[in-house]
Amino acid sequence: MPQNETEHCPEAGLGAIILAAGKGTRMKTAKPKVLHELLQLPMLWYVHQAVNSVLDAQRTWTVVGYAHREVQQACVGYGGHFIHQQEQLGTGHAVQIAWPAVEQARCEWCLVLNGDAPLIQPESLLHLVNTCREEQAVLGFASLELDDPSGYGRVIRRADGSVTAVVEEKDLMAQDPGPEINEVNAGVYCLHVPAVGRHLHRLSQDNAQGEYYITELVDLCVRAGDRVVAVSAGRDSSFLGVNNPRELLACEALLQQDINDRMLNKGVILRNADQIRISPLARIQPGVDITGPAEIYGECTIQSGAHIGSHVWIKNARIGPEAAVLEFSHLEEAHVDGGCRVGPFARLRPGTHLKPGARVGNFVEVKKSVLAEGCKANHLSYIGDAEVGQGANIGAGTITCNYDGYRKHKTVIGKDAFIGSNTALVAPVKIGENSIVGAGSAVSKDVPDNSLALTRAKQKNMPRRVIAIKDEKE
Ligand code: UD1
Ligand code: CA
Repeated sequence: MPQNETEHCPEAGLGAIILAAGKGTRMKTAKPKVLHELLQLPMLWYVHQAVNSVLDAQRTWTVVGYAHREVQQACVGYGGHFIHQQEQLGTGHAVQIAWPAVEQARCEWCLVLNGDAPLIQPESLLHLVNTCREEQAVLGFASLELDDPSGYGRVIRRADGSVTAVVEEKDLMAQDPGPEINEVNAGVYCLHVPAVGRHLHRLSQDNAQGEYYITELVDLCVRAGDRVVAVSAGRDSSFLGVNNPRELLACEALLQQDINDRMLNKGVILRNADQIRISPLARIQPGVDITGPAEIYGECTIQSGAHIGSHVWIKNARIGPEAAVLEFSHLEEAHVDGGCRVGPFARLRPGTHLKPGARVGNFVEVKKSVLAEGCKANHLSYIGDAEVGQGANIGAGTITCNYDGYRKHKTVIGKDAFIGSNTALVAPVKIGENSIVGAGSAVSKDVPDNSLALTRAKQKNMPRRVIAIKDEKE
């Protein structure tokens, strides 16, 4: 079996606690920190993703507190269990309240992760667990080398290299500062449940912040003669935490770069890649050509040969093979089949389905409508709640008047129909197959097949009246 397959096996006997109860004061917003987004997905989503790929969500406990309902709501479908920490008395306290559930589930090992480190990788979690097992340690944690360690807990080692403690920055400042320490605690731990359980109730609040620190466990274990290891991750940026907006954007940039690198490696062409933002949920086939700036969010699928022009924004859309989405187009929950051409400057709203070869041009908005094969709506139109038949042509300035102030109504346009420019189609209304609506019409009654409908008044031409204008000076 290849090595990564064993490394990716969901681990039996392994549980995880995710710490997500804090407000994140340094973000300076009311929004809970763990719900701040990277590429439009909450920070906590990424942490759960990493954890879920190494163990069953049934053995994950997320500690929530500040805005707990909102946080829990955001994790519906993947978050495992939630534990409410009423008062945020510290990271150690958060572990204490989750601990009975971990013990009850008979976990032998338990990972603890800060909910504010969104780039954490499943391989790193497994490496930490495996190192603890191999080195027969009761507690392992990941450490990082940082040029600027400010804000992080520092790792204290003896001359022989063994770890004795993690000291928080605020406590370090209260003591003799000593030489600068660049090895910091990344906030990812692996605990041997029976052994660490014996120390957990002994955490104190005897520190600069008056909190129960998870990091005090290091000190307690070492004093009791239990083995502790700091597993160095060197300068691996996937361990970085987010405490303020600047760090959020730094993590997002790293994530964006990583996703784009993977895309390029598999054969997706990204021009001006620095300005292309692709969600980790997007599925983009090799042979797709994208020019930045472009934003592709949510569960998009883009098939081979499709072209995405610059300044395009797409969310939860499906783009078929050889389709072109031209510059400045905006697509949300739309489905564009193969060979279609959209834009420039088109807007496809939820429920739009363009069938193969359909074309939607500049300043055309489409909502909840199906445009069949080969349809064209090339200029300045609104098509809402409509069904447009194969090969129909929607002239410039056509508006489906789908809303009467109370309800939405449907417009049906038959195969090969031709709608003249500046036409209002007052729904509910049906235009028959192969029929023509004259330019400037307001159609409120159905038009049968093979007909010509005209509603505008007959043009009258008459001699121009000359109006004598008095000279103002008189
Ligand atoms: C923590 C570590 C520090 C480490 C750093 C890495 C402690 C005492 N310090 O500091 O050594 O270098 O992470 O990023 O743990 N939380 C709760 N309940 C609480 C308090 C916090 O769930 O009562 C959660 C927060 O929501 C957050 C995580 O725990 O997701 C970490 O808390 P935070 O206050 O950010 O800790 P740091 O000061 O960054
Ligand atoms: Ca933090």
